[in-house]
Amino acid sequence: MEFDLIVIGAGPGGYTAAIRAAQLGLKTAIVEKGKTLGGTCLNVGCIPSKALLSSSELFYGARKHFGSHGISADGLSMDVGAMMKRKDGVVRKMARGIDFLMNKNGIERVAGLGRIAGPNEVEVTSDAGQQCLKAKRILIATGSRVAGLPCLEFDGETVLSSDDAVALGQAPVSMVVIGAGAIGLELGSVWARLGTAVTVVEFLPRIASAFDEDITQALQKLLQRQGLKFHLGTGVESAERTEGGVRLIAAKSDEKVVLEAEKVLVAVGRKPNTEGLGAAEAGVELDERGCIKTDAGWQTSVPGIYAIGDVVAGPMLAHKAEQEAVAAVERMAGQPGSVNYDAIPWVIYTAPEVAAVGLTEAGAKANGHETAVGVFPFQANGRAVAGGHADGLAKVIADKASGRVLGAQILSAHASELIAEAVLLMELGGSAEALARTIHAHPTMSEGLREAAHAATGESLHI
Ligand code: NAI
Repeated sequence: MEFDLIVIGAGPGGYTAAIRAAQLGLKTAIVEKGKTLGGTCLNVGCIPSKALLSSSELFYGARKHFGSHGISADGLSMDVGAMMKRKDGVVRKMARGIDFLMNKNGIERVAGLGRIAGPNEVEVTSDAGQQCLKAKRILIATGSRVAGLPCLEFDGETVLSSDDAVALGQAPVSMVVIGAGAIGLELGSVWARLGTAVTVVEFLPRIASAFDEDITQALQKLLQRQGLKFHLGTGVESAERTEGGVRLIAAKSDEKVVLEAEKVLVAVGRKPNTEGLGAAEAGVELDERGCIKTDAGWQTSVPGIYAIGDVVAGPMLAHKAEQEAVAAVERMAGQPGSVNYDAIPWVIYTAPEVAAVGLTEAGAKANGHETAVGVFPFQANGRAVAGGHADGLAKVIADKASGRVLGAQILSAHASELIAEAVLLMELGGSAEALARTIHAHPTMSEGLREAAHAATGESLHI
């Protein structure tokens, strides 16, 4: 049987591509080696971590914040096993949803490990044997996997990857987290809220370095208040096993830092999945970081073979992969699909959450913009204070001459949702004044972003 398109990998990039392709009338197959569809995001990434973040936030909130609302939570206890069961249920439910979408759209699901055997051929190996599928086009959506450190081999017991850290049976007494990026801060938060003594070691001088410094400094203070400890400007150099776990030797300037813990979570980034794929053998070129190179239409150096998502350059984010998937397939169907790389939101789901879109203030200046920046502290937002969410700030970065919004950053409860307004504004090329003059319901947290826009235009009302 010959397909119009074979998609390899059924993460958010791959399954979205398959759906869009089927909608556009392409006869489509999707090859997946995992037991369930959904890839890293659904099975061991975005969704399970959010389930655990929700459970742990409830527990932490009951312990620390209920009292201020006049609610007693005497006798409070937690059951990590039950939290994990709930998380597994969430994942199962969402995986069933993807199965439904594959069936609804008439997509042929092929279970097994896909390998490109030629420009129009995918070989699929499973327990049932091997089969060869033919297609006019192949889309590589194989995603990424955790990158480790040479001195710390993952063992799933003491040296954990993010895959392991969303599946622990109980809260460890202590954990060192290496890397203060999205994974380190999110999973470090989960376990700290559940009682683990968490120490974060970060190579760079600050955490979450993709955000502006005023935002990350405020975030760090809030996380420290929750019990997380930080060693910044510190690189882990060697490690040894101890009876109770692991001992790490790290370097901080000229100083040596020795850290011991029951578990260590290595969260120092991810790398593209191209091994065993047969792509390089088929002539597909990779860049120096091992990502698949594509042209502006997501076609690789081999005509008819395309690639999207974590396996190509750019931020490793599910929503970036989805957008590329839709655009790449639309291009295949002769439509003008495109992705606005300047307006991709980015979120770290700590408490409070931190979210950004577009240029940072530092980045805008580095790009030669004269900026007009507005900052608004949520301490002055009625809904935030009433809800006990007054920590944090909203920031709007605009071009001074044109007023056009270049970026926004939000540190607050629900920042992941609030950032959507700034993303849409940027998508439409809007100005800080347009945001400031848009009516926002009162009282809402969304007024915080509006007030930051007011501040950027020099016409603050509430600060
Ligand atoms: P990351 O690249 O975001 O952060 C890794 C951090 O580790 C960096 O700050 C780096 O300086 C530090 N580091 C590297 N080597 C080190 C060493 N030897 N010692 C100390 N620190 C070291 O990577 P992360 O957090 O592992 O996430 C991987 C990918 O997954 C990222 O692209 C991220 O955007 C994505 N992701 C996104 C999420 C979200 O959108 N909420 C959640 C989880 C992951």
